Amino acid sequence: MKDISDFRSDTVTKPTPKMRQAMASAVVGDDVLGDDPTVQALEAKAAEMLGLEAALFVPSGTMGNEIAVNVWTNPGDEIILESRSHIYLYEAGGPARISGVQVCPIETTDGAMPIEAVRASIRDSSDPHCPTTSLICVENTHNMHGGRVLPIDYLRSLRELSLKQQIPIHLDGARLFNAVHASGISAREYAALADSVMFCLSKGLGAPIGSMLVGSAEFIERARRVRKVLGGGMRQVGVIAAPAIIALEEMVDRLHIDNENAKRLALGIAGLPGVVLDPDTVDTNIVLVRLVPPAPSAEELFRQLADRGVLSIPLGPDLIRFVTHKDVDETDVERLTSAFRQVLTG
Ligand SMILES: Cc1ncc(COP(=O)(O)O)c(C=O)c1O
Repeated sequence: MKDISDFRSDTVTKPTPKMRQAMASAVVGDDVLGDDPTVQALEAKAAEMLGLEAALFVPSGTMGNEIAVNVWTNPGDEIILESRSHIYLYEAGGPARISGVQVCPIETTDGAMPIEAVRASIRDSSDPHCPTTSLICVENTHNMHGGRVLPIDYLRSLRELSLKQQIPIHLDGARLFNAVHASGISAREYAALADSVMFCLSKGLGAPIGSMLVGSAEFIERARRVRKVLGGGMRQVGVIAAPAIIALEEMVDRLHIDNENAKRLALGIAGLPGVVLDPDTVDTNIVLVRLVPPAPSAEELFRQLADRGVLSIPLGPDLIRFVTHKDVDETDVERLTSAFRQVLTG
């Protein structure tokens, strides 16, 4: 058995041997000067997979999201997002700091902001008291709602509203391909309902670094400039684009395994004393567990699981997260399930 079963995040995935070989032999140029062929191939592939015109390779999902916010807004604007979204909670205040916009967070139980609530939150731009609402952000899958997939009909309704109000939609699709497997809806169908999409290569897809920002050619041209402002213009970056291409070619199809392992885990621990978890709400590769007495605190559970070789992330006094990915398999899930049982049932 391995020393550690690491369920902290799908960001802990290590590059495959083939990715490492690709890094060593990558043909490179200077991507800021626009002549790195490996980056160009990656960007063309990402755009094609999402059925949009163009794509930009960025160092992180956070930078991809923040570039999108910057491109779509002007300082003083307001953006609508979900109250537990990554852009709101975990990007260090980027929308305010980088783009000078304020946020209008909408609280939900599952990540899908009710259409009526979004409509009601759009400001009257003819009123000089009001900021201009210039962007709606959605997150699919939704990390802090336990990897929930946003229903396609919901996204269609939101799109209708966005077109009517002429407010663009940015999709934080860090784990978009996990949603694709869970729902059977293609990445192209999801992308067609947004104006810009960010997805991560460095999570379940196993590439060491990087995310893609995808959209119209005009959007990407503006995004390229903002990336430069943020210091994200990189030179011989074909070295990390090469494993990213392998991620797109070889790792997308296996993500259903991660979704299945998360479901297996949820079924294994739901019903244990102090565990609040409905396995039906585990759509993809994230299992969020709420703890109530007699379960210990999240911090204590984290420690006791770690003593048994299993890593997780406590996300609050009574909330703990487990994420499945290519570097944990059924045996790791079994180990976690039995460690959980030992801790909770003594
Ligand atoms: C939903 C979501 N969006 C964006 C990000 C940011 O990605 P990165 O860690 O590459 O900045 C994450 C990271 O966990 C995420 O879960």
